[in-house]
Amino acid sequence: MLRRRRLLLLLSALFLSSAIKSALPHGDHGEESGGSCALALDARVVAEYEPGVVTVDGHADEWADVDGPEFALLPALDPDEDKAYGGGKIAVKALHDGINVYFMLQVEGEYAYSKGDNQKCPSVALMFQVGENATYHNMGGCKDLPGTCTSKSCRGHEVDIMHFSIGSAIPGRLYGANLLDNGDGNGGDRFGHLVDVYSWNPHCRYLDGKGPSGNSSSAQNDWQGAWWHSSLDFHSGYVEEDSPFTKSGQKGTYYFEFSRPLRTMDRFQQDVQFVIGQLSKVGVAFWYPLDGKPWSGSQHYSANCDWMPLDIASPSGGSSYSVGSKSSWDAATAFALLLSVVAFCVSVFVGYWVSRTNSVPFTPMDRL
Ligand SMILES: *[C@@H]1O[C@H](CO)[C@@H](O)[C@H](O)[C@H]1NC(C)=O
Ligand SMILES: *[C@@H]1O[C@H](CO)[C@@H](O)[C@H](O)[C@H]1NC(C)=O
Repeated sequence: MLRRRRLLLLLSALFLSSAIKSALPHGDHGEESGGSCALALDARVVAEYEPGVVTVDGHADEWADVDGPEFALLPALDPDEDKAYGGGKIAVKALHDGINVYFMLQVEGEYAYSKGDNQKCPSVALMFQVGENATYHNMGGCKDLPGTCTSKSCRGHEVDIMHFSIGSAIPGRLYGANLLDNGDGNGGDRFGHLVDVYSWNPHCRYLDGKGPSGNSSSAQNDWQGAWWHSSLDFHSGYVEEDSPFTKSGQKGTYYFEFSRPLRTMDRFQQDVQFVIGQLSKVGVAFWYPLDGKPWSGSQHYSANCDWMPLDIASPSGGSSYSVGSKSSWDAATAFALLLSVVAFCVSVFVGYWVSRTNSVPFTPMDRL
């Protein structure tokens, strides 16, 4: 019931935002407020508290009942609808179990896989605001030039990034946090390239634990994740020799599934820290090797062109999302009240009119 109401709200929000969007002039690609930026103004990712639902294996079955917003994927550097990713929209879903937060990114796309070549495989990234002044544009937006960024000069512009490049990752297997890289004290992943990164701007981007003024050696990769494509046949489990796992060009859906503890042991503003019942800010990026051509780092699609609120909902529903839906519920209640007052007045008038004219015969209900 609650979910249906949320869906309804989401639908009306989507309708509203598309109405707003069509009223905006097309072709304005300003850095800050391109026309397409209005597309997802109301977009919000809600991570409900649902423990024991999700297994991080790249399979989306257990996510079927979880609602998540969907976005057209527009080029991040030129968010023109005519240049949107042609494969389809990306759905962004999230849950938490009080300990970890889970994400599922679903995006349609023909199977493309080139063993060992990340740039010839699809790839996804999540970005989160850490510092209060970190902008979505320019990955934190610190003005310092490459080589001059320091944790001091860019204080407040920290963003946390998880990037999964699947060129060396076997579908259905878990990548990310592992003993060897965490033993080295950094956010790397030598096995599957599911890395934990932070940045101040696109040129000042480092693995957790590394940076311009030395390596902290106490950082960790706190993410884990797996990928899958719907054209793959499930069997007892793929191994590296099965690569590329199925024929390329098959239609289907890519699934990217992730988990991370709500809190990490970061002490250097390199990880976002989630709080139950509070909002964080998230961005989603997607790379795809169009026509088999390798992509470059800046050549990615974006699920929105600004931060989206990510709500780590509290089990009681006392999150800010519920507050939002409560106020719109109040509006609906007020409208219903107004309607009923009008109806009451009309009925009083009809009753008065009937008693005056006395020309309407009484009709028992059972005759109707
Ligand atoms: C963020 O920007 C404001 C206004 O410029 C400034 O007062 C504040 O100190 C900044 N925050 C951090 C963490 O640097
Ligand atoms: C940090 O580690 C990298 C490689 O792990 C190394 O190349 C670099 O010299 C180290 N920097 C400092 C300041 O220790």
